[in-house]
Amino acid sequence: MPATGSANIGVVGLAVMGSNLARNLASREGNTVAVFNRSPERTHTLTSEHPEAGFVPSEGYDEFVASLAKPRTAIIMVQAGKGTDAVISELVQRFEPGDIIVDGGNANFHDTIRREKEISSTGIHFVGMGVSGGEEGALNGPSLMPGGTAQSYETLGPILQTIAAVAPDGEPCVTHVGTDGAGHFVKMVHNGIEYADMQLIAEAYDLIRQGTGKTPAEIADVFAEWNTGELESYLIEITAEVLRQTDAATGLPLVDVILDEAGAKGTGAWTVQNALDLGVPTSGIAEAVFARSLSSKRAQREAAADLPGPAEAWKVADGDADAFIEDVRRALYASKIIAYSQGFDEIVAGAEQFGWDVHKGDIAKIWRAGCIIRARFLNRIAEAYADDPSLVALVVAPYFRDAVAGAQDSWRRVVAIAAQAGIPTPAFSSSLAYYDGLRAERLPAALIQGQRDFFGAHTYKRVDRPGVFHTLWSGDRSEIETTPSSH
Ligand code: 6PG
Repeated sequence: MPATGSANIGVVGLAVMGSNLARNLASREGNTVAVFNRSPERTHTLTSEHPEAGFVPSEGYDEFVASLAKPRTAIIMVQAGKGTDAVISELVQRFEPGDIIVDGGNANFHDTIRREKEISSTGIHFVGMGVSGGEEGALNGPSLMPGGTAQSYETLGPILQTIAAVAPDGEPCVTHVGTDGAGHFVKMVHNGIEYADMQLIAEAYDLIRQGTGKTPAEIADVFAEWNTGELESYLIEITAEVLRQTDAATGLPLVDVILDEAGAKGTGAWTVQNALDLGVPTSGIAEAVFARSLSSKRAQREAAADLPGPAEAWKVADGDADAFIEDVRRALYASKIIAYSQGFDEIVAGAEQFGWDVHKGDIAKIWRAGCIIRARFLNRIAEAYADDPSLVALVVAPYFRDAVAGAQDSWRRVVAIAAQAGIPTPAFSSSLAYYDGLRAERLPAALIQGQRDFFGAHTYKRVDRPGVFHTLWSGDRSEIETTPSSH
């Protein structure tokens, strides 16, 4: 029986993420960590493999709850969904007002809002927390995105600050994102950006491979080189590692023996579903989600495999490979800026819709280390929001405006070449189309309004005077003002 109330924090769910987070907590001075898993074998394995952690193990909920000092704080690290509700219910039955339950899984933020509402009536704090960085991050320093009450963060914040990743300027990668589901919402968008970033990198690789005939190992060198400049990021770094890997069984590049069907656990799709609900064009993320879906449509891909492509195969001319690769690098950077800009737009829209006081600059800061989308240019994003907290779109901030303007010729060349060569670049292309749509002085949306008014009397506004108008399309085609303006 563990000493009553000896642990200042507990972890429920000891699969890899939970075990690693528990070990991370235990490694920080001042923490005594209670651990509990539904099947006790996992608890035994963890405690016997890591005696140095000084874990306080339990075999049941009563014992686990008793081992926690008050106010009790427990982090749930189980697979998102029904399992989370079951654990919450067990804890709620035993916790007291002022205690804190943290859900560190990839929960849907709508579930987090619901859970918070249900639990708050008991006086127990419920915190939905985004945790990014995979297994390695959980162990050595993740980026943490807690929501919940500000009061819960007073207890939780100092503990989380000890285990979070540390940004280059020494700041821990954790902040109180906002109330109820804000943390899981921001983690969801993080994952959406992750999908877009990965798709863009994959498109860049594909263009270089098809255009120059370089081997994966040679392209690994290109990515390693890119990782020394403005594109420096975790995803670029691991791309070089993946491309360099040889398959032990065949001796082929590993990337050539991996089945080209990308999986997804759903957070990317959630990002797009919510973007649609919020009316935010996150086209880069959407294309990335759809590209994964398309890759997995094996029967359709096989049936379509003999559809005609361009008449002539395309290759970069001899001597032009370096210039082409530089074009791709710039196109990647510009598209990446669009993906992040769209992601931040969704965070702004979500915060407005759900009443969260989210500080965009702080979000950029906590993504600088620990998480999957950590990248050098997040410093630039943080600076942009610090310079202008009411910035309407990241891409119009001076640094990003210049970056995109400097890349646009390359970007257009790459998208045009891809279209002519028949190489699918949905994320590159849609990012450029978004950029052009955003900066267009006039959009053909005016025609769409005319069409809507024609078939459904949906009305339109005019550029030259206020009011709402309808043209009598089936009559004499005169215009009537349906809602007189106040003027
Ligand atoms: C992270 C990751 C992690 C995981 C996602 C995406 O931040 O550590 O985002 O949460 O990679 O679940 O996984 P899928 O690609 O399988 O959807």
